Amino acid sequence: MVSAFRHKGNSNLIFGAGSAASLPELVSKEGLILILTGGHFLQSQAWTLLETGLKKAGIAYVHETISGEPSPDTVDSLVEIARGAAAVSVLAIGGGSVLDAGKAVAAMVCHEGSVIEYLEGVGTRLPGGRTLPMIAVPTTAGTGSEATKNAVISKHGDSPFKKSLRHDAFVPATAVIDPELTLGCPMNVTLACGMDALCQLIESYISTRATLFTNMLAKEGLRLFGSACELLSGEELGINEESQRGSLALAAYLSGLCLANAGLGTVHGLAGPLGAHLEIPHGLACALLAVPVFRLLVKRLSQDSNQAVLDKLAFAGAQINRGSNANPGARDVECLIDHLENWAGRLRPLVDYGLERSDINLIVSASDNKNSPVNFSYSERREFLLQLI
Ligand SMILES: [Fe+2]
Repeated sequence: MVSAFRHKGNSNLIFGAGSAASLPELVSKEGLILILTGGHFLQSQAWTLLETGLKKAGIAYVHETISGEPSPDTVDSLVEIARGAAAVSVLAIGGGSVLDAGKAVAAMVCHEGSVIEYLEGVGTRLPGGRTLPMIAVPTTAGTGSEATKNAVISKHGDSPFKKSLRHDAFVPATAVIDPELTLGCPMNVTLACGMDALCQLIESYISTRATLFTNMLAKEGLRLFGSACELLSGEELGINEESQRGSLALAAYLSGLCLANAGLGTVHGLAGPLGAHLEIPHGLACALLAVPVFRLLVKRLSQDSNQAVLDKLAFAGAQINRGSNANPGARDVECLIDHLENWAGRLRPLVDYGLERSDINLIVSASDNKNSPVNFSYSERREFLLQLI
């Protein structure tokens, strides 16, 4: 029997190399648009094309850049700019932070007060679901934010947090996924974001809330990831790069659909508070945490004889390891962990971000296992972080 599920997705999904060229046709012609991008995007050919296209079509816009993860202050000041310019829609082009900022600004233009008042676990108000129409255009293949209904807002310093503004209506109305936009992505960003997408696919696949629908999406996402994971090796791929960028971009989108519907696990349950405490990119936090978390997960699943979940991990490993669905087994689970170790070993270590032993209890206290099939204790979660310093 197929168990019940609900799904809230983009109304309009456009995928394909070169699809960003359609943005001037897609944006609202009814009034001014607020465009949010990262700083690097201004040097790209895609930005030149977009600017030319908007000017040619006579579309008015205000452009703002975002650096780092959006804070409540950043969102509030962008909302003021959007209101002052009477923006009628938002176009966000960038990594997960830019897309999350876009979602939050589009929503908060239609809500009173500061975004902090509406954040889960922080504020006391519930968002009503009103939002400006938004187009999300990812330039990294990782978070899948273009598919999800939440915007992650971070506050660092005193009383740090990383919390979501969430409502079904905040799924971006339109997502334009153009893998060509990820072609210039630096190697360390491709690697960390790709590992974030992989963690999202695996954690939602083995989640206690997984459904037939999310399992189908996760399996296809893992197949696509397996066919694109040479990108994470950093080697020159020549003409193969384009097709692998396409596979990774779609894998990341599917990971967003999966996490929005099935939830995540301990890697993300720790990455949130870790990212609130240290200014560490989300993808990097997930990539580094994946190694100790998945290693102990496999051990505990074996002790509990949880073959159903081990089989799912074997499937994931087989896609990466052999690009094959044929007879996944224990060796594929080991290879999955080996690949995670290999990739994480090429990234900046956690100590570079200043994590100290004295910080760990605070981070672990704010962490959880989300929907992991194994309920790791406080001391086990503490140990995951200790292994990284
Ligand atoms: Fe993530």
